[in-house]
Amino acid sequence: MTIGFIGLGRVGRALAVKSVQAGNRVILSNSRGPDSLTSYVAELGPLACAGTVAEAAQAEVVFLAVRWADISSALQGLPSWNNRIVVDTNNPILSDGTFVDLGEKTSSELVATQLPGARVVKAFNSLFAAWIEDEPVQPAGKRVVFVSGDDVEAKHTVKELIAAMGFAPIDLGGLVEGGRLQQAGQPLAALNLLLTN
Ligand SMILES: NC(=O)c1ccc[n+]([C@@H]2O[C@H](COP(=O)([O-])OP(=O)(O)OC[C@H]3O[C@@H](n4cnc5c(N)ncnc54)[C@H](OP(=O)(O)O)[C@@H]3O)[C@@H](O)[C@H]2O)c1
Repeated sequence: MTIGFIGLGRVGRALAVKSVQAGNRVILSNSRGPDSLTSYVAELGPLACAGTVAEAAQAEVVFLAVRWADISSALQGLPSWNNRIVVDTNNPILSDGTFVDLGEKTSSELVATQLPGARVVKAFNSLFAAWIEDEPVQPAGKRVVFVSGDDVEAKHTVKELIAAMGFAPIDLGGLVEGGRLQQAGQPLAALNLLLTN
């Protein structure tokens, strides 16, 4: 599978490493262009390349991993997503650490409105970056990744990808009800759980 990355900070890099380890091709992107990603591409090896955001967005599965305040600019001007899968890893938190007031809406609902035609699956937002970077298979079990989304097939694809990385995906249901539970500040966020074998 080819996986695109929009944003290559701590979360994007950790997921790119694990995607390559699982045997996937990756297309990396940020706002500064492919030349700024040369060292990461070299670290990841022949399955990795750098591209523009538009090129990364053409992959079958795309991880969106930019800060909340940068989501609109990162997605600006992209063509319709044409049923491709976008994994929303983001949390509605500003750079000073304050939570954005979303009213009654969930963060992934708001992200999805900026992804016309995409099948949006929420995952990895509830783990700190250090836990995503860490080895997911521990002696006591596999690190849990919560997954929410409305499209069953898209969610199945993402769960298979997560399992191939070594994590234990747990399906919380639809994007709104499941997404709310795993959203930052909610009961299932920031939990470092292991699923025993
Ligand atoms: N850090 C955590 O522990 C953690 C855990 C789970 C989820 N999250 C969530 O995951 C998301 C990413 O977090 P992070 O910690 O990885 O952030 P980060 O380290 O600040 O990385 C953000 C990335 O987005 C890129 N970017 C910024 N503007 C962009 C644009 N317009 N187009 C394309 N790329 C752009 C940045 O690169 P350039 O500036 O070079 O473009 C950078 O590679 C956030 O929403 C955060 O809430 C974070």
